[in-house]
Amino acid sequence: MESTDLGLVRRLRRRHTDIVEPQTFRLLGQEWDLLPGVYAPNLTPSAALYAEWLPYPVDGAFCEVGCGTGYISVLAAQRGCARVTALDISPAAVDNTRRNADRHAVAGQVTARCGDVFEPLDAGDRYDLVFWNSNFVDVELPESSDAMLDRAFADPGYTTHDTFLRTVADHLTPGGRVMLGFTDLGDTGLLTRLAATHGWRLEPRRRAVGEYPDGELRYELIELVRR
Ligand SMILES: C[S@@+](CC[C@H](N)C(=O)[O-])C[C@H]1O[C@@H](n2cnc3c(N)ncnc32)[C@H](O)[C@@H]1O
Repeated sequence: MESTDLGLVRRLRRRHTDIVEPQTFRLLGQEWDLLPGVYAPNLTPSAALYAEWLPYPVDGAFCEVGCGTGYISVLAAQRGCARVTALDISPAAVDNTRRNADRHAVAGQVTARCGDVFEPLDAGDRYDLVFWNSNFVDVELPESSDAMLDRAFADPGYTTHDTFLRTVADHLTPGGRVMLGFTDLGDTGLLTRLAATHGWRLEPRRRAVGEYPDGELRYELIELVRR
């Protein structure tokens, strides 16, 4: 029998299957590019919530892990961050982010790079705020032609969360902050244990309940604080 989590990933994937050509969507009063195979932020309320909740470091440096379409990275630049780095393991997401940075004339502030978590960064790269709207479903994924898209939703065994929690401190300025976008479809217990292993504790900063295809979902902005 299929696990609930795998069923969830399949339903999330299905919602993206009719996106076969570049599209645009509106969010927070602006028009954005969306490429096939990239997580579509307009399909859930989380996009607008996280974008409004984040304490963008004005004149500072912002790093977004798992940038997807890049709308948060572009908004960070529009809201005053001097330097924005957008990272994603999906080449399509990096391309999508560059398009949105061009569309909104912030390509000079937003650098998009492809790779695993912080791997594309240089050793000395430091940020005042690091944010990841994470792929929070913990489930083993079967072989799939949509493997890269599935990674937008799922992190089997939370190995990517583990890498993030283990290495994020290497990329913070003194006083730099770390935040995660998370939901109650994620495994908060596992996240808490992994965070503790790497010297962090979770402090929820903002919370809202929103509509989701399967019903209501709790969206949270969680700050990682040193234990
Ligand atoms: C839930 S989506 C969020 C996308 C975008 N930030 C948004 O809010 O619309 C998670 C993103 O993390 C990316 N991702 C998954 N595993 C990753 C990894 N190991 N390194 C970097 N990015 C990863 C996915 O490709 C996806 O774009």
